[in-house]
Amino acid sequence: MNLEALMGRTSDTLTAAGIEGARLETGVLIEHVTGLGRMAALTSPEQSINQAAAAEVALLAQRRSAGEPIAHLTGHREFWSLEFQVSRHTLIPRPDSETLIEAVLAQADGLPESLRILDLGTGSGCLLLALLAELPVATGVGADISGEAVTVAAANAARLGLAGRARFVTADWSDGKDIGGEEGGYHVVISNPPYVTDAEWVELAPGVRAFEPALALKGGRDGLDAYRTITARLESLLAPGGLAIFEIGAGQAASVTSILAGQGLKPRKPHQDLAGLDRCIIATY
Ligand SMILES: C[S@@+](CC[C@H](N)C(=O)[O-])C[C@H]1O[C@@H](n2cnc3c(N)ncnc32)[C@H](O)[C@@H]1O
Repeated sequence: MNLEALMGRTSDTLTAAGIEGARLETGVLIEHVTGLGRMAALTSPEQSINQAAAAEVALLAQRRSAGEPIAHLTGHREFWSLEFQVSRHTLIPRPDSETLIEAVLAQADGLPESLRILDLGTGSGCLLLALLAELPVATGVGADISGEAVTVAAANAARLGLAGRARFVTADWSDGKDIGGEEGGYHVVISNPPYVTDAEWVELAPGVRAFEPALALKGGRDGLDAYRTITARLESLLAPGGLAIFEIGAGQAASVTSILAGQGLKPRKPHQDLAGLDRCIIATY
């Protein structure tokens, strides 16, 4: 089979399954398996593809058609223009979460250069590592209840050349134990906690529910459990003058603002994502 025929067959499979952007994803899957990108498709469509590679692409197209996220099939996803390894134990980084990175960087002038950051619920490590990539002498700890996620995050730090400034620990923010080994010492605590309500969970796209970790998404009946738990611990984690920065779900700004205020913090006006939704809240004591 040649490249053009493989592209046609794969695209037909994905289109028949109702995958939006089937042509684009076809290119991603074929490049993942064969190393042949868009240029090859344009300049040498007659190039022959060996049987094993064609069979592997067909298998991935079937898995994609069954709803598996493309990032799980390729094993990576771009975030903040950096490449992150992902697995079924880590949330796939979302473009909306770049709002949190922008919000922290917008505050950087008022913070020490040798910033210490704690990332609660680090997943793939995307938030902490994107910040460390931007702030050359900052250091950070990423904590997650999932040991598998912590392993992925540490591998991402190594691949991005940031392992010397990032440490990852398996820790549960609700068990009251020391989280990152520097209680009282963080200038910035960031978190994109699970915030999907029980009602929203059943409405989520089936691919998300079936393939992404529930632990990363489900935030309890009203989606706010993690905010309550983490906020109650912030005083012991933040250095004097430190900032807490949370990603929030659509429509949660008022509730999270009131949870933060209830713990004596002063929440600021929310930052909005590209869709104009309140996506991130900063608070200080
Ligand atoms: C929404 S995901 C965010 C992942 C990553 N920071 C990102 O933005 O893509 C939430 C993360 O919190 C972690 N988590 C959930 N409950 C936790 C707990 N009690 N203690 C520590 N981490 C927890 C999950 O395993 C998951 O990796």
